[in-house]
Amino acid sequence: PTAHLTLDPSFTVGAVNRRLFGSFVEHLGRCVYDGIYEPGHATADENGFREDVLDLVRELGVSTIRYPGGNFVSGFRWEDSVGPRAERPKRLDLAWHSTESNQVGLEEFSVWLEKAGSDLMYAVNLGTRGVQEALDVLEYSNIRSGTKLSDERVANGRVEPYDVRMWCLGNEMDGPWQLGHRSADDYGKLASQTAKAMRQVDPSLELVVCGSSSAHMPTFGSWERTVLEHTYDDVDFISCHAYYEEKGGDTGSFLASAVDMDHFIESVVATADHVKAVRGSDKTINISFDEWNVWYIDRYHSIDKIEGLDNWPEAPRLLEDVYSVADAVVFGSLLISLLNHADRVTSASLAQLVNVIAPIMTEPGGDAWRQTTFYPFSVTSRLASGTALSVKLASDTYETKDYGTVNVVDAAATFDGATGSVFLVNRSQTEPATVTIDARALGSVSTATALTLADDDINAANTLADQNRVGLSANDTLVFADGTISITLPPVSWTAVSLG
Ligand code: AHR
Repeated sequence: PTAHLTLDPSFTVGAVNRRLFGSFVEHLGRCVYDGIYEPGHATADENGFREDVLDLVRELGVSTIRYPGGNFVSGFRWEDSVGPRAERPKRLDLAWHSTESNQVGLEEFSVWLEKAGSDLMYAVNLGTRGVQEALDVLEYSNIRSGTKLSDERVANGRVEPYDVRMWCLGNEMDGPWQLGHRSADDYGKLASQTAKAMRQVDPSLELVVCGSSSAHMPTFGSWERTVLEHTYDDVDFISCHAYYEEKGGDTGSFLASAVDMDHFIESVVATADHVKAVRGSDKTINISFDEWNVWYIDRYHSIDKIEGLDNWPEAPRLLEDVYSVADAVVFGSLLISLLNHADRVTSASLAQLVNVIAPIMTEPGGDAWRQTTFYPFSVTSRLASGTALSVKLASDTYETKDYGTVNVVDAAATFDGATGSVFLVNRSQTEPATVTIDARALGSVSTATALTLADDDINAANTLADQNRVGLSANDTLVFADGTISITLPPVSWTAVSLG
C-alpha cells in the first residue's frame, strides 16, 4: 500500500494544547499503592514515592493528571484522605471491591505531582455526594486561609493553596455500574447546581461535565444533549471516555479503532454545537477526552473481578494488562486521532499511569519498566508542539468488519514555525506501506529523522522478565529530498518523523 500527505502551515486544525498529554491516577489496584507509592522500596523518597517511577513519569511527558478516580471517586469521601495519617480511616471501595487505606490523599499526591512536574485535575464525587462536599473540597484546596477548611489544610502542613484549576463534575454518571448513576436529566441538574456553586467560590475554575462512557452506550448522543441543555452555561468541557480491545481475533478492525474515536469526537462536537445553536450561545464547549486507552476489559470481568463479603483486599492486582506491539500501534493511532481534533479536544487523559492499564509497570521491591504503549506517548508528547496541521492524506484502503472501508495509513502532523512532527501508522498486517510527505510548504525545515515501533511478532511485549523486548528503532528508509520525504513503514507499525 501507499499513502501521500501534504503539509502546509496555512492549513491547520488548531493549537496543540499541552493538556492533550495528560494522564489519570485512580485509587484502583496497584496504581497508587505499590505503584507510585511504596515506602519500603529501595528508590523511595522521604515521602514513600518511588523515584524510579517518577523518572519514568517525567520521561513519559505527562501534563495534567486526573485524580482520584474514576469509578472510585463516586464513593470517595475526600476528607478521609487528609490530615494525620494515623487517624485516616480504612474504607470499603465499592467500585473495585477493595479496601482503601487513605494513606495517600490530596496532600501526598500534590507533593508527588510537584516532583512529577504535572498539574492536578480533581474529580468530585457526584455519585454518593453532592454540592456541599464539592464546595468543601474546593474550600480546602483553593482558599488561602481564614476559614475552617482552609485553616485545616494549613494546620495539616500545606500553607499555599493547591490552586486546582480543572475539576471533573463526577465520573461516568451515564454508566449503570456507577455508584449513584443517574438519568441525564437528574445528573444534568446536579452538575449544573454543583458547577454554579463552585463558580460562586471562583468563576475562573475550568469545569468538566460527564459525557458518555463510550460511544456505544445506549444513551450516547441524547445523554450529551440533555446534560448540556442543563449545564451549557456552567461548564467548559464535556468528557469522552473510550477503550479499545481486539475482539474475536479481528485484528483488522482493532487496528482501525481510531476510526471509532474520530467518529466519537465528531459526534460529541456536533451535539455540543447543536445545543449551542439552539441556545443562541456564543460560547463553545470543548472536549476533555479524559479516559482513553487499549483495555482488555473482558479479562477484568472474567478473571480479575473481586467478590465476597469477607474479601476486600488492599491494592490487589487489577487491570494489569500487558501491551503488545499491536496494542501500541492502536494506542499511537488514538493519539493521532486526538491531534487531528486538537481544535476541539483541548484536554485528554491517558487512563491510566502506573500498573493499571498503564504505560509504566512496577514490581513491589523490584523494577519499574516501560510497556510498549510508553513509546508512542512519550515521543508524541515530546515532539507535538505548536499547531496541529490538517494533513491532506490520500491512502490506500482495506475492509474491516466493524468500520467498513478504512485507510491503511493514518497520519497527523504538527508545526511550530521552525520544527515539526509527523505521526504515522501502517495498519496492514502483511505489507510495508510506502508514504510520501510533501513538506515543501514548511520552508525552513531541512532535516528529518524517524523512529518506528514494529516487530516481526506483533504480540511481543515488555514484561518483568524481558523489560526491553520492544522499543523504538531508527527508521533508515527515510529519504528527504527537495522538500519531500519518503519513508517505508513496516506492517503493523507506528512511526514518528521529527522535522527540523
Ligand atoms: O480506568 C478504569 C475505569 O474505567 C475508570 O474507573 C472508569 O471511569 C472507567 O469505566
